[in-house]
Amino acid sequence: MDDKRVLITGAAQGMGRQIAVEMARQGAAYVSVADIATEGAEETLALVEAAGGRGQVVRVDLTDSADVRTMVETAVRGGGGLDTLVNNAGVIDSAFAPELATVDRLPEEVWDRVFDINVKAVYLATQAASAALRASANGPSIVNAASVAGLTGYATPAYVASKGAVVQLTKATAIGLSPEVRCNAFAPGSIETPMARERIASADDPVRQEWLMTGAHLIPRFGRAEEVAEVVCFLASDRASFLTGVTVPVDGGLMAWRGLR
Ligand SMILES: NC(=O)c1ccc[n+]([C@@H]2O[C@H](COP(=O)([O-])OP(=O)(O)OC[C@H]3O[C@@H](n4cnc5c(N)ncnc54)[C@H](O)[C@@H]3O)[C@@H](O)[C@H]2O)c1
Repeated sequence: MDDKRVLITGAAQGMGRQIAVEMARQGAAYVSVADIATEGAEETLALVEAAGGRGQVVRVDLTDSADVRTMVETAVRGGGGLDTLVNNAGVIDSAFAPELATVDRLPEEVWDRVFDINVKAVYLATQAASAALRASANGPSIVNAASVAGLTGYATPAYVASKGAVVQLTKATAIGLSPEVRCNAFAPGSIETPMARERIASADDPVRQEWLMTGAHLIPRFGRAEEVAEVVCFLASDRASFLTGVTVPVDGGLMAWRGLR
């Protein structure tokens, strides 16, 4: 990540936090930690600084277009340019609909919220950042958070549709910003983060839910945020200089079969 100026959304906790810290550890020059949750973002910034990096907290509500544009402007100003955009923030239906809402019962506002954050904000941030990324002389790229739920079916209609959209938007972005800017995505399996823990806690049968989430991994456990952060750093680094338009599963083998242990 030598000397790259990076902006990471959803970096107040979970994978976004770990990506921010790992990028700082690997030599990023400036880390903009963007989130709606400023307290967690401040904690992440402290961890970035402890890892030898520097940066800033950018408060953003990704459902607000003007906020997304201001986030990018603030990151470009803070770092004196931008080399890497990580569209990491994401939300799942069950965070807003208490019971598992199948497509016939999913409230329209849940669909809109999931799409606003998981898809529209990715498009808006990419659009806002494209001029600065094109102007970068330090291996510019975008890394988007997809999911295995964008590659195969799950019972969360808005989430799977939104992550499928991220996989396709990643390709369209790779085409549209080529050859100057690369764009790739990562598709985690079940990673132990607050999002995963909330999903388990909100299930009718939490023990069964945890088994459903980890039982499809050939590597029999939750993935760790650090393991995802390593892959994101690789995708953003110049070592991935011939990769663009791909979605890389980080899923303990989940996409390799169709079984449950
Ligand atoms: N955890 C998993 O098992 C898993 C699996 C596959 C994909 N993913 C994807 O990986 C990414 C990171 O997941 P995570 O588990 O670390 O998530 P998380 O829920 O732990 O963190 C998400 C962050 O996004 C922020 N956020 C939510 N709404 C926002 C808004 N309107 N404006 C600004 N920030 C907002 C939250 O404050 C939070 O800090 C997401 O895109 C998620 O969909 C996660």
